Amino acid sequence: MRIGIIGLGVVGSSVAQILQTNQDVIAARAGEEIIPVIGAVRNLHKSRADVTFRLVDDVNVVLNDPTIDTIVELMGGIDEAYVVAQKTLRAGKNLVTANKAMLAYYRYELQEIAGKIPIGFEASVAGGIPIIKALRDGLGANHILEICGILNGTCNFILTNMFLHNMPYATALAKAQELGYAEADPSFDVGGFDAAHKLLILASIAYGIDAKPDSILIEGITDISEDEIAFAREFGYSLKLLAIARKVGNEVELRVHPAFVPLSEMISRVDGVMNGISVVGDCVGETMYYGAGAGGKATASAVISDLIEIARCKSTPMLGFKKSLESGLVLREKDSIRSRYYLRLDVADEAGVLAQVAQILSSENISIRSLLQPSSQKGAKILLSTHLCNEKHIKSAMDKLATLQFVRHAPVMIRIKDSQ
Ligand SMILES: NC(=O)c1ccc[n+]([C@@H]2O[C@H](COP(=O)([O-])OP(=O)(O)OC[C@H]3O[C@@H](n4cnc5c(N)ncnc54)[C@H](OP(=O)(O)O)[C@@H]3O)[C@@H](O)[C@H]2O)c1
Repeated sequence: MRIGIIGLGVVGSSVAQILQTNQDVIAARAGEEIIPVIGAVRNLHKSRADVTFRLVDDVNVVLNDPTIDTIVELMGGIDEAYVVAQKTLRAGKNLVTANKAMLAYYRYELQEIAGKIPIGFEASVAGGIPIIKALRDGLGANHILEICGILNGTCNFILTNMFLHNMPYATALAKAQELGYAEADPSFDVGGFDAAHKLLILASIAYGIDAKPDSILIEGITDISEDEIAFAREFGYSLKLLAIARKVGNEVELRVHPAFVPLSEMISRVDGVMNGISVVGDCVGETMYYGAGAGGKATASAVISDLIEIARCKSTPMLGFKKSLESGLVLREKDSIRSRYYLRLDVADEAGVLAQVAQILSSENISIRSLLQPSSQKGAKILLSTHLCNEKHIKSAMDKLATLQFVRHAPVMIRIKDSQ
């Protein structure tokens, strides 16, 4: 597949980079190589380390290149991008875009021009989370009863800092700007408009609703003060900017606004810049999606998933991959697995027990991370967690511990999940 990329900024340059670094898996999954042939930018003098292909400053040169079958639009904006998208489809080329603002206004118009030509837009909602494919394919058998999403990382970062760290709104916003999570002019994000664009795209897949941003309820987070945070804390809520699409009878509600969310709901625990989306289907019930909603690499991951899907339709079936997708990859031996572990030892209430346990663990190169020693009338217990160690060593330590006289039952071991 030969592609042209229009826009090589945050997302476009990550697409170029990942197409190089992950070339092997991408080609295996797509069934062919995905080759960026030409790109368009505004400023040809900027240095772009990941771009090894030809660059031009006129989008029409890319659009008119007869050797390209797919255009990736990553320039942003609405009207200019819409022209690019129309020209792409009218030339019979596939279109992949991350442009939620354009799609919020023109998704139905573009679909009409496209007919059967594929348009990929996974990256337009929630960055790296494959929510479009989940709604369109994975949940295809369901009537969608509700979508409830935290779709704007900037707002979620600000609200999380207000809630967890007692920051006033202005301080949390300034921190978001300092870390690059918010624009110098943040009004588009904090006003709820970005989340609304994404909600409209989701609603068109779930419900086939062609609403425009001006016709739905959109409220931002700018009026939230410490009072609301205190209320949320007192009554067991978190405070989130929610984008909600809900089927009510034969109508669909679409709204974006801050909301108190009971702490018992999973979505209330989506914190920081992360995005989370709960989708309720009439057959499947509630499903939940979580991940990075923005950032070059996460968004590029979604862009490339669209390219792979388009390529795959003309080529490789998914089933029956080569034995190892990445060359040289083999299965790790069970004993080499590394994890942190929890151990429970039921022991006699005697002096020196803990010292012997620690000595055995240390002889296997295992160090203790935390320790609890609840005692009861039935005897004593040692509950401990370890730092990272090998499966082989923990098993050997358990065998040794089981032979000790003061250990009453075989030790219980549970692995502790660490994030990658
Ligand atoms: N950034 C994210 O995390 C994220 C997440 C989800 C979706 N998106 C969407 O992805 C798209 C791209 O975002 P981005 O953050 O990568 O934007 P960006 O960093 O501002 O990059 C835009 C790129 O487009 C080029 N460009 C703009 N107008 C052009 C024109 N008229 N002709 C040729 N090139 C032009 C720019 O050229 P120069 O480099 O020469 O200025 C730049 O390379 C947007 O639609 C955005 O909403 C972004």
